[in-house]
Amino acid sequence: MSLPVSGRLDLLRPTAVNSILAEVKSLHEPVVSLMRGEPDLKTPLHIVEAAQKALAGGRTGYPDNRGEIRLREAVAGKLARQNGLRYDPGTEVLVTPGATFGIHAALMALLNPGDEVLVPDPVYDAYLSPIRLAGGQPVPVPSSIVAGRFVLPLDALEAAVSQRTKALLLNTPWNPTGTVFSKTELAAIADFCCRHGIALISDEIYEAIVYDGFEHVSPAALSDEVRQRTILINALSKTYAMTGWRAGYVAAPAPLIQAMFLVLQQSSRGPATFVQDAAAVALDGPRPGIEEYSRRRDLVLRELGPYGAMAPEGGFFAMVDVRRSGIPSDEIRRRLLHEQRVVVIHGAAYGPGGEGTLRVSFAAGGDALQEGLRRVRAGLATL
Ligand SMILES: Cc1ncc(COP(=O)(O)O)c(C=O)c1O
Repeated sequence: MSLPVSGRLDLLRPTAVNSILAEVKSLHEPVVSLMRGEPDLKTPLHIVEAAQKALAGGRTGYPDNRGEIRLREAVAGKLARQNGLRYDPGTEVLVTPGATFGIHAALMALLNPGDEVLVPDPVYDAYLSPIRLAGGQPVPVPSSIVAGRFVLPLDALEAAVSQRTKALLLNTPWNPTGTVFSKTELAAIADFCCRHGIALISDEIYEAIVYDGFEHVSPAALSDEVRQRTILINALSKTYAMTGWRAGYVAAPAPLIQAMFLVLQQSSRGPATFVQDAAAVALDGPRPGIEEYSRRRDLVLRELGPYGAMAPEGGFFAMVDVRRSGIPSDEIRRRLLHEQRVVVIHGAAYGPGGEGTLRVSFAAGGDALQEGLRRVRAGLATL
């Protein structure tokens, strides 16, 4: 007899990646995957060496639960240098195990039962379960495709907001769509948050991966008023190819950090001490270039442009517009998997706003990317 689990579990869903992985495993066939947001680049050696040195030096005890002060100072230094933001490392920065925990802590700290959280549609699907777990209700804000890019129209935001809205959860550069919100777009969105008195949770995990002269802007840098209502979430996962290290951080006004600190103390205690030492070295050092992702992006656009690939402005995903086919995106994904043995994610997995698109990842490159693109092309040619 197995013990019954909590009814709370009904609020949680597997992520799209995990659901599709389970389907792929059940095939028992080799496949090429263009699915995951997992860089295949190695963590730069000087960061690995910093962790080795810290480990060998006995940095294995409990970390300061707010984050080791050296890392919080490195975070504050990075935010000042790269984002034009001033945060006090003593009271306005919290170190988290990846961005995932930062999002969880922000939602747990902000939401009361029944509060609504606006999320762009399509949205990184892993936002939805933590919103529900924190007692909230995600409210999708339908996006539009205008001139080959996904945008979040102000009238859609206005139509979605209600008395119960507590926050907007924004992601720029935006996974899955590839949009990097311009300063003008962000100013309008931030103004919307100010007018309605809601928080802006800003997930900036892809900030370093932007193309073609697009520029990442941190909404908190727009004005003091916006900074006061923003919880900035970030992590070293994508920028430094450190997904498995679980090193992230949150910056926000002190009372919010204090609330998130309490959530963290009671559920994680933060990343390993030697990981934090290495993360400080990473943030103090040079930011890796994105030339390799740029080359891969060009390759994806060359191979899939004629089949509807939209040029990503940031991140390492390209959306392929397959609306013309009239076939549901999940059906196309399945055909690609079963007929071509290539894995992509259907846009509808990210919400109705993603229907009619496929998300193709170029986080991993090399022969797998070449072969994967060949298979996607072959599959799309039959539609
Ligand atoms: C938009 C977004 N936020 C957060 C995460 C998770 O970040 P981390 O691995 O640092 O928890 C991802 C990972 O794919 C992501 O795409």
